[in-house]
Amino acid sequence: MTKNDQHTFQAGVEIQLQGVTKRYPGASEPAVGNLNLTIPAGEMVMFVGPSGCGKTTSLKMINRLIEPTEGRILIDGEDVTNKNPTQLRRKIGYVIQGGGMMPHLSVGDNVGLVPGLLKWDRKRIRQRVDELLDLVGLDPAIYRDRYPRELSGGQQQRVGVARGLAADPPIVLMDEPFGAVDPITRSRLQDELMSIQSELNKTIVCVTHDIDEAIKLGDRILILEPGAQIAQYDTPENILAAPANDFVADFIGAGSTLKQLSLRRVNELSFDHPVTARIGEPVADVEKRFADVGENSVVILDDRSRPREWISLRQLRRHTHVPTPDIEVQTIDHRSTLNDALDAMLASHHGGAMVTERTRYVGVLSYDSVTEYVRSLNEQAGSGS
Ligand SMILES: Nc1ncnc2c1ncn2[C@@H]1O[C@H](COP(=O)(O)OP(=O)(O)OP(=O)(O)O)[C@@H](O)[C@H]1O
Ligand SMILES: [Mg+2]
Repeated sequence: MTKNDQHTFQAGVEIQLQGVTKRYPGASEPAVGNLNLTIPAGEMVMFVGPSGCGKTTSLKMINRLIEPTEGRILIDGEDVTNKNPTQLRRKIGYVIQGGGMMPHLSVGDNVGLVPGLLKWDRKRIRQRVDELLDLVGLDPAIYRDRYPRELSGGQQQRVGVARGLAADPPIVLMDEPFGAVDPITRSRLQDELMSIQSELNKTIVCVTHDIDEAIKLGDRILILEPGAQIAQYDTPENILAAPANDFVADFIGAGSTLKQLSLRRVNELSFDHPVTARIGEPVADVEKRFADVGENSVVILDDRSRPREWISLRQLRRHTHVPTPDIEVQTIDHRSTLNDALDAMLASHHGGAMVTERTRYVGVLSYDSVTEYVRSLNEQAGSGS
């Protein structure tokens, strides 16, 4: 068997649903009625819609935990409707709310479950388990031999994600994976899933109740009405900008301008460029750079151009040489969302945030330029309708 390192992950494949229908015995209406859908390879597609609209049923037909009554499902162009469901499921990761761990198996054995069924050798499974625990932010040395009851809800959920990825399936299905954890853990898990996905490019289908989660994570969002009727299937940007109908508009709810902030990146806005100073530089030299009388603050950089502190000229003048700041300041990456930038600004005592690109300082994003940007979005929305 070949060595399995992290550069050999298998990328996603396309999923097609063609006229897929599910009638549960005795129900007057189908739970899923004639669903036609293409999920592109390597994308994360979010299923949202009211309770009972058929999200879980649609998802479980993809790995045939539920058999369709009618229709075909194609994976990477191949009709899998009549394939052996057990074999099919080994190629499709599945992550459920709470992690769905086996309580009597250790974390490592839970993650290694499917590779074990696939008869990988023990050494490879062990490597794989450690690699995946690392990937989801759990130190293997600490967590590998623990039991599920010895983990927090968020940690169990991480293990669930690791298990879904364990056999390196091209497709991962997730049913409300982060539904059972607190909002802060949830947002951290979402960030982690996004960074895992940017590395692995799986095809991920994720059911959620939370439209904000769908906007944050989804390359595309499928909004369903009862009977799994498609209300809209599009990118978050397009859905927010132009809801297809009143059902969608209601579903995405109020405050969609604010929601757009989670789609916009810091580097789409222009930055301010206050005077910068190097640690150890004579303050007199720094003062010479203050051409504009209106300017009164200075960004202190270290010898690797990392921003260290942002202080007033008045504070700086108490020193003869630019001091080494004794606190760690929060910075934001140029690719962060405006939502995260606003959070960082609210936590800092300045009217803005220092922006970095690969830890190097690039400028200051001011609170005013974000509010100005929000105003322009509102005006666009106003004139567009
Ligand atoms: N095993 C079953 N037998 C009969 N009816 C079922 C079964 N599972 C689901 N249903 C029905 O099918 C419809 C769709 O259910 P499904 O679980 O797919 O909804 P959902 O969109 O996932 O809802 P939720 O958001 O509450 O999880 C519902 O009306 C439900 O009552
Ligand atoms: Mg469901």
